Amino acid sequence: MIVKTDKEREGMRAASRVVKAALDAAERFIKPGVTTLEIDAIVEETIRSFGATPSSKGFCGYPNASCISVNDVVIHGIPSLMTVKDGDIVSVDITVLLNGYQGDAARTFPVGSISAKDAALIAAAKDAFFAGMEYAKAGNRVGDISSAVQLYSELHGYGVVRAFTGHGIGHKMHEAPEVPNFGKHGTGSPLKAGLCIAVEPMITTGDWRVHIERDGWTVRTNDGSKAAHYENTVIITDGAPEILTL
Ligand code: MF3
Ligand code: CO
Ligand code: CO
Repeated sequence: MIVKTDKEREGMRAASRVVKAALDAAERFIKPGVTTLEIDAIVEETIRSFGATPSSKGFCGYPNASCISVNDVVIHGIPSLMTVKDGDIVSVDITVLLNGYQGDAARTFPVGSISAKDAALIAAAKDAFFAGMEYAKAGNRVGDISSAVQLYSELHGYGVVRAFTGHGIGHKMHEAPEVPNFGKHGTGSPLKAGLCIAVEPMITTGDWRVHIERDGWTVRTNDGSKAAHYENTVIITDGAPEILTL
């Protein structure tokens, strides 16, 4: 949505602060041997401790408070009794509803000590997001962000997932416009001051092609390459974007 009033901006900020607190709690908790369901429980407790609700729970039948995606799972991993182990990378994606406003963010965390290659992948997802932010400004277009994310990622040798995109966000988790991680500069909807979007590069160490598993949710790379996800909720302004979930 386009946030115009101070009240709306503050609503988006407050929801986003809860998302960030839940990501921080997950990060502190993650270590070899914990199950992804235990990570999800920490996330849900943290969200509810603020009087907020986890938007993903019940969304299109999704069962949990967070999406937890390990190694070659890109997004929408369903928490389970699977334990994470030393050397894994685990993406945690959290959407929160507080007082009618949504916040959405994701990070990929290392478990124990990870390879230099995987650490570089995680760093590149973040850097791709910030490459996009250089163009996240009123007067530009969605495609300016998309193309910057794609160019950064591909120049560094990563695959850019295409089947899923970022999105507008506001009273609903997913609103117009779609914000792809690939595209052409100068195309797409105009970015207006006050527009609130979630920008979320999903990149792999291999090919960009993915498939959805038979559970209807889990998105995995076709080639088994590992994936990283970095997402923030952002307000477009006439100057630098306001990034709410840092
Ligand atoms: N947080 C995800 C996003 O970035 C959406 C998750 S929907 C769920 O858009 F149902 F899978 F949780
Ligand atoms: Co998300
Ligand atoms: Co999102």
